[in-house]
Amino acid sequence: MWSRLCCWLLACAILTVAPAASAEDGYQLWLRYAPLQGAALQSAAAHAKAIMVPAQGPSAQTAQAELQRGFASLTGKTPQSTQSLTDGTIWLATPASSPTPLPVSPSTLGEEGYAIRTIRMQGKTVTLIAANHDIGLLYGAFHLLRLASSEADLDHLDITSTPRIKLRMLNHWDNLDGTVERGYAGASIWDWWHLPDFKDPRYTEYARANASIGINGTVLNNVNAKADSLTAPYIAKAAALADVFRPYGIKVYLSAKWSAPIEIGSLKTADPLDPQVAKWWAAKADEIYAAIPDFGGFLVKANSEGQPGPQDYHRTHADGANMLAAALKPHGGVVIWRAFVYAAGAQKDPRLDDRAKQAYDDFKPLDGKFADNVLVQVKNGAIDFQPREPFHPLFGAMPKTPLMMEFQITKEYIGQSTHLTYLGPLFEETLRADTGTGGTVADVVDGKLDHHRLTGIAGIANIGTDRNWSGSIFNQADWYAFGRLAWDPQLSAQQIAQEWAAQTFSPDPRVVTPVVAMMEGSREAAVDYMTPLGLAHVMGTGHHYGPAPWIANLERPEWNPVYYHRADAEGIGFDRTAKGSNAIAQYAPPVAARLSKLETTPEKEWLWFHHVGWDQKLASGETLWDGLVHHYDHGVAYVAGMQQTWETLRPLIDAERFTQTQTYLAIQHREAQWWRDASIAYFQSISHRPLPAGAAAPAHGLDWYKALRFPYAPGNPK
Ligand code: GCU
Repeated sequence: MWSRLCCWLLACAILTVAPAASAEDGYQLWLRYAPLQGAALQSAAAHAKAIMVPAQGPSAQTAQAELQRGFASLTGKTPQSTQSLTDGTIWLATPASSPTPLPVSPSTLGEEGYAIRTIRMQGKTVTLIAANHDIGLLYGAFHLLRLASSEADLDHLDITSTPRIKLRMLNHWDNLDGTVERGYAGASIWDWWHLPDFKDPRYTEYARANASIGINGTVLNNVNAKADSLTAPYIAKAAALADVFRPYGIKVYLSAKWSAPIEIGSLKTADPLDPQVAKWWAAKADEIYAAIPDFGGFLVKANSEGQPGPQDYHRTHADGANMLAAALKPHGGVVIWRAFVYAAGAQKDPRLDDRAKQAYDDFKPLDGKFADNVLVQVKNGAIDFQPREPFHPLFGAMPKTPLMMEFQITKEYIGQSTHLTYLGPLFEETLRADTGTGGTVADVVDGKLDHHRLTGIAGIANIGTDRNWSGSIFNQADWYAFGRLAWDPQLSAQQIAQEWAAQTFSPDPRVVTPVVAMMEGSREAAVDYMTPLGLAHVMGTGHHYGPAPWIANLERPEWNPVYYHRADAEGIGFDRTAKGSNAIAQYAPPVAARLSKLETTPEKEWLWFHHVGWDQKLASGETLWDGLVHHYDHGVAYVAGMQQTWETLRPLIDAERFTQTQTYLAIQHREAQWWRDASIAYFQSISHRPLPAGAAAPAHGLDWYKALRFPYAPGNPK
């Protein structure tokens, strides 16, 4: 009897220490609303006894339902709907729905913002969520739930929050056949075949997750678009999705194929200055708005990587964008025109010319020529979503044009589904970069610097049909961080990681502290084992999985890794100074002056801007060659460190998510080692220098790495 009682007591003690150990598969994302314990439970229960929602619109109703769902799960008790204030009521109020003036100035809340205040009203203590419009109530509800889930103090709330960027969007690179370009999380979540009839419940969960982090727009289809997306059946399918998303404040956009008037209209041309073409697009816009009254607009990839565009007719990008803008204008829609362009013919002298320059060369002269409902969407860097890229020189160079930031949340070049490489620090680094024009990149994007009111930010989605949505648990953090930074680009990546870890795993500091520590350095580790010191684009052809810095035989020079690293007997790196491609001249003078000299260029960007001798000394005193090898080693060692940290978390994390992450970290470690070894084997064949003391020789000879093939690597549909 005694021994059974002891066993039972012991079991209870273990359960109290390790409450997190229940089966989880990541489907709930950061919206788990895991049951609270102790004081946090008492507090949440005391503040969520009832909910008063006089506003009747769909977003207000959604906010109420979310609060009920959330607090029911957190506290075990569903807050009841009430018509009158009692202690512990959450009161959701807009100026229109409140019988009395709100104790919050509506002018501070904007279109989508909200305030959360602990107030005394009619002698009762109430948590007020106030907003000008119902969507603000929903955002405020999610904020309150975030606080409760993170065990924050709910007694004295005094929060005002408004988004700094107007369009906060996901771009899906999803194809109509269900594949996802650069997708590493399964198939497309859009079941185009069964739409518009069958609306997968997952669409609602998708909208919830996005609304919880403030995302308010989604482009449903790939920028490498099919014209079919604009046919009547597909418009009806998009309309069905728009209906699901509407209460969550999310507008639908479509990627538009430039040649659609020829492919699905009966026209012979897509020349933007041809009146028939303009008429076709205007009629198409009318048709779309008849089905989707709040349609957001078109995203366009034109004259890039083989896509058709206005330059095919000797017109400019502005001619093209403005023609579409005129079609959308009567309906309030926008055109988002991508600046990611690189086209055949740019290479006059392959030694001196530079793919990094083309977007600026094409777009800078068009500043001031775009219609007022056009945004130009610019990737964070001038090449293509590398582990590290200096900020794109267009930021700061087009003050008369709203420039929209394009980040890649899906990790095409940064470990795809398996590597734990938290992108918060990458986003933060770009947003905080000083453009040399009086502000940071964030100041350009949020419109502060050049006084734009139409502003935007986009992230290429990492979402698919995988049960965990994003290919791995930690990849969810990149989606989360993108949304949070889109709302407020001044937030820190560390703070966002803390929020995410508390909600995703547990607010227990024994979990949050080590998880955040792993995340914080993880992107830098990937830079170290993949592309240290400013190297770029040394990945395998097509799939971009794994190292292949030796590739030199592809048709166009800028498809080859050797074009980017330019390693030779003297040194390594792309000379973008006046002696080379002079790409640095595209930056504002203070930035260009700094980058023109090696001594004033940050070491982490050296090989991006300079061709540097193998024996050049780094700040550490070691040579570039030795330093390069050490960076590779640091990257691999960091991953080993993450594996050790993760092991210590075993008692505090549920088995399913623990094991998947543990396995993925092992894959990452193996691949980091592969990156390191293959890169060193190759670059040593050029530098002809010995490895620094203590550095291990690569496990295999160079030819072994060169012979590896990955014909079915994901994310690269043909
Ligand atoms: C990268 C990516 C392509 C994508 C392109 C784009 O080049 O590899 O798959 O289409 O970016 O942004 O348009």
